Amino acid sequence: MAPSTSSAVTLNINGEKHTLSVDHRTTLLDALRERLDLTGTKKGCDQGQCGACTVLIDGRRAVSCLTLAVASEGREITTIEGVADGDRLHPVQQAFLDRDGFQCGYCTPGQICSALGALKEHAAGWPSAATADVRPEAGVPQLTAEEIRERMSGNLCRCGAYVSIVQAVAEAARAGDGAAADEEAAVGEGAA
Ligand code: FES
Ligand code: FES
Repeated sequence: MAPSTSSAVTLNINGEKHTLSVDHRTTLLDALRERLDLTGTKKGCDQGQCGACTVLIDGRRAVSCLTLAVASEGREITTIEGVADGDRLHPVQQAFLDRDGFQCGYCTPGQICSALGALKEHAAGWPSAATADVRPEAGVPQLTAEEIRERMSGNLCRCGAYVSIVQAVAEAARAGDGAAADEEAAVGEGAA
């Protein structure tokens, strides 16, 4: 008998469990969009280049187009549909609105999920390629515009809303846990 090419998986998405049968080659992105009607997560390149499909898996950002649905079982998946608290927007969402961090909005769900992960990584003291002093004793790096651009560089915006996106991420950092966002990043110089 030929081996089965599909399996039943239970995906924990935004705190809700969904059991479905998927072909082993099904990506998490296709399972979200085509099987579960969670179309907030966008398909751009479908090959790990654009970041439009970014979700959080166990709190860390991941491109869902390069993640198999079967490999996502037992993990906590957060999509853009699970970011707000009911009618109350998450501070990152609010900052994107306040700063006009989008134009067409197609990349925005991925940008917001990526920003959530990036801010968490920064608050934990993770350095980026833009961090001048990566020694642990240097502490959490200042969240300059350059740092934000580097940390968000996996998310492309065809509309070129980068200036506002950098401002939104800086504003969200200050509104959130008081992370050391550079004032210059919020008001503004420079984009990717
Ligand atoms: S659709 Fe996944 S990175 Fe572009
Ligand atoms: S807002 Fe249009 S692609 Fe980013």
